Amino acid sequence: MITRRQFIESSLAASAVFSLTALPFAGHEARADGHAIRRYALDAKPSSHQFAKDGSPTDLWLYNGECPGPMITAKKGEMLEVIFTNHLDQPTTLHWHGIRNINAMDGVPDLTQAAVEPGESFTYRFPVLDAGTFWYHAHNMAWEQVARGLYGALIVTEDEEALNPRDVVIVADDWRLDQSDQIDTESLGSLHDWSHGGRLGNYLTINGQSRPAMARPGAGTMRLRLINASNARVLSFQLNNRQPVQVIALDAVPCSPFAQDTITLAPAQRVDVLIQDASRLDQLIEVSTSQPIDAAYFMAESNQTVPPLKPTMAEPWYSMPALDAAKVIDIHMQGGAMGNLSSAVFEGEERGLRDLAQNEGKLWAFNGQVGGYDLTLAELSLGDVVVLKVWNDSRWQHGMHLHGHHFWVASKEFGDAPKPVLRDTYLMEPGEKADLIFIADNPGLWLFHCHMLEHHAAGMGGVIAIS
Ligand code: C2O
Ligand code: CU
Repeated sequence: MITRRQFIESSLAASAVFSLTALPFAGHEARADGHAIRRYALDAKPSSHQFAKDGSPTDLWLYNGECPGPMITAKKGEMLEVIFTNHLDQPTTLHWHGIRNINAMDGVPDLTQAAVEPGESFTYRFPVLDAGTFWYHAHNMAWEQVARGLYGALIVTEDEEALNPRDVVIVADDWRLDQSDQIDTESLGSLHDWSHGGRLGNYLTINGQSRPAMARPGAGTMRLRLINASNARVLSFQLNNRQPVQVIALDAVPCSPFAQDTITLAPAQRVDVLIQDASRLDQLIEVSTSQPIDAAYFMAESNQTVPPLKPTMAEPWYSMPALDAAKVIDIHMQGGAMGNLSSAVFEGEERGLRDLAQNEGKLWAFNGQVGGYDLTLAELSLGDVVVLKVWNDSRWQHGMHLHGHHFWVASKEFGDAPKPVLRDTYLMEPGEKADLIFIADNPGLWLFHCHMLEHHAAGMGGVIAIS
């Protein structure tokens, strides 16, 4: 029996029966033997949840009835095994966002696995090779399933077994609720949202709570791991008094620390920050709109001595590769409201944008083609150095995400001076051109898509094939 929310450390016997040589990912065998298996069970099901202590319950779809879903933790190098059961009345899958995964475990329906049908189970089993802040979420009709609550944090640590009170996970979400505090279902699938900035909400939560009071150590350093689980909202956070923080990791990847007073996250992005003096942290404020929102409060944990944070690595997982023999793939993104896309190819046929919008719910294109799992953007050989030359030729921001890999990008997310960073989701401004550079070292069919989930559903996605 596997207890909910709790892993069972495998016995030696259990790891012995697991066939390590069967892993379809070459690099793993050598490191895999003897590695512990971290086990979880996740059940997706309709559940009710209270966002505020004295508020009314809201009907959501949750993992194990929790909002956000149970925090999954593992140690770098372990094998993660998640027995997943679908108690929804529609098919679903689980995607492990940011994990350099085995393709068959990546959770993209019809591309890497068949969707898990209602009543059925699927076991995800993969090694976690990198430490950092990740998250998991539903990947079938994600624009609805994530909007209803199907996501959670996934934290892989270097060595410590559990997160301590100096290491705080912040999962932020932007819900759209109706007058009776229920998910506004009438607007699900709204073409207006799909052609504009996506589904923007009207209710902010941190770790499933509106304006929670969170514990922090009385003094000393602490780390916040921020995750944006919103469908489409780009969130920006400040601490009280705009005290600057040190950014120490982006999308799970360590970076040389740099100071910021505003932490901006596109949907699906993660930012880890270090706070030098926890005693000065009272409030987290969301500042992306003209009306700042108190997102969370922090209160000192009384007379508890918390051991200091362990120093973390500051080196990215790999350095920027040489580009002499790089393969260049052009990706011209068009569409949406006020854009310059008049027609696009959909299922082999050129059709006008109005027709595509009204009859197919399609509004976006890559290189003149409405995207989908049938659109191959690139066919690459294992080991290729690749430059995705992406041009956001639209009036909207897009958070572009590559599955199975992290890419180098000269980021304009931290001010005008381009900053080279390694990450898995990049926020592009309207009109921006960016080179996303990666080594195609993970075989399989990998999705490249906008993480504004409505944009993805409406055509902003395609496949990168690596063999
Ligand atoms: Cu967060 Cu296609 O994924
Ligand atoms: Cu987009």
